[in-house]
Amino acid sequence: MPEDTPPKQPIHEGGSDFVVVSNRLPVDRISTEDSDAGWRRAPGGLVTALAPVMATRDGAWVGWHGAPDEVLEPFHHESMDLIPVPLSSDEVELYYEGFSNSTLWPLYHDVIAPPEFHRTWWDSYQLVNTRFAEAAAQAAAPNATVWVQDYQLQLVPQYLRALRPDLRIGFFNHIPFPSPEIFAQMPWRKAILEGLLGADLIGFQRPNDTANFLRSARRFLGAGVKAKQVHVKDAAGRYSHIARAEPFPISIDVCQIQELAARPDIIARSQQIREDLGNPKTILLGVDRLDYTKGITHRLKAYGELLLDDKVKVEDASLIQVASPSRERVETYKQLREDVEGMVGRINGQFDTIQNTAIRYLHHSYPVEEMVALYLAADVMLVTALRDGMNLVAKEYVAARTNNTGALVLSEFTGAADQLKQALLINPHDIDGLKNTIVRAIDLPRRESGRRMRAMRKQILAHDVQRWSDDFLNTLAQKAIRDDS
Ligand code: G6P
Repeated sequence: MPEDTPPKQPIHEGGSDFVVVSNRLPVDRISTEDSDAGWRRAPGGLVTALAPVMATRDGAWVGWHGAPDEVLEPFHHESMDLIPVPLSSDEVELYYEGFSNSTLWPLYHDVIAPPEFHRTWWDSYQLVNTRFAEAAAQAAAPNATVWVQDYQLQLVPQYLRALRPDLRIGFFNHIPFPSPEIFAQMPWRKAILEGLLGADLIGFQRPNDTANFLRSARRFLGAGVKAKQVHVKDAAGRYSHIARAEPFPISIDVCQIQELAARPDIIARSQQIREDLGNPKTILLGVDRLDYTKGITHRLKAYGELLLDDKVKVEDASLIQVASPSRERVETYKQLREDVEGMVGRINGQFDTIQNTAIRYLHHSYPVEEMVALYLAADVMLVTALRDGMNLVAKEYVAARTNNTGALVLSEFTGAADQLKQALLINPHDIDGLKNTIVRAIDLPRRESGRRMRAMRKQILAHDVQRWSDDFLNTLAQKAIRDDS
């Protein structure tokens, strides 16, 4: 079957044995004048994580294709069956920008921004979760495995179980799960916990997230929790099933990044980047979605002060900050963009010379090839998130540094800090500590950076995304065998 063509048979005739459900389909529309121009694989953490798994299994992927008010037929792309779920413009506003990204996102990231609670947003969240559950129920073959992804779809496991009790249901939360003290603010906390507990296996990034979830289940539902297992009851109070919660720290496609890092054209591009910046002694790099959880303003503050203190000189060092556009209609994101761009403008205005730029700020998304060229060009990688479920950029940087050079400055508030213990760990709120660590990273002796990078690479090479998904899916499969016996 040619790529991107509607299949002659309905994709899910008889159903798929493996179905992934996520808010977004793993493709972006190629924008040309021609509205039927086609699709290409989307960049980003979730897609990076699951595309290799989809390629090796005969699966279907259920998700929104990214445009409002448009109903699309299922189609094939790069050996994946894609099943679009439509969202109206109102639902984009209430379910996606509202409940998902102005209620859940800030609440789950330790209320860095104040979450808003609106009943109309919650109504829309329930409605859209129902639609996703129905689409998954229709796509799945008898006894299939369905893997639901992330905070936008926390009610899907429960709804799906009600529609299709034969399915084996997994859920993975890509973002942190907050402590019960913070989760307590959620007016619909019981409904959300019950939604998640519809799954057989609930995966989190860190042991801490898992513990937070289990404590919330105990506290707000009075659920029986023993050894990471929750005894789930149905609406009538009868025993339904056992849901298991466990950490599965996500990773990256290490092979892909290493292969790109070895490609002569990408190596040449990384040298070109250095030259274009005037061959400074040190290139520092930040790569983030433009999101307030990423600590971009803290990083810029520290860097600006280092220039002011003359600890870093604009002739010697250049900071490249890639900030990819994200959730641009949400107020907190609009405000953040203004803050970041104001800071960059002020710092550059003060320290730039005709020849040198303090911060090269790029408000774009780039293909992975260009990202790897940037990783190769960067002597110091700055990851200063205030809270982050994992942070795959940190792992990609390590994977790209095949010659064991380079220094990673990493926030202790990322899931990645659990695995990349030899990074230079920082608390981004401690601006003096951050400044000292940036200077230390710039001056890190070759032997020490080599030792640290080797250890981190060892960890990453042994734990790629394939292993992550295998671990999750094997645990889900074994649990089903145990439950049946
Ligand atoms: C995070 C979330 C994903 C989300 C991505 C991009 O990584 O965990 O679920 O898809 O951000 O955000 P967006 O709102 O553009 O889908």
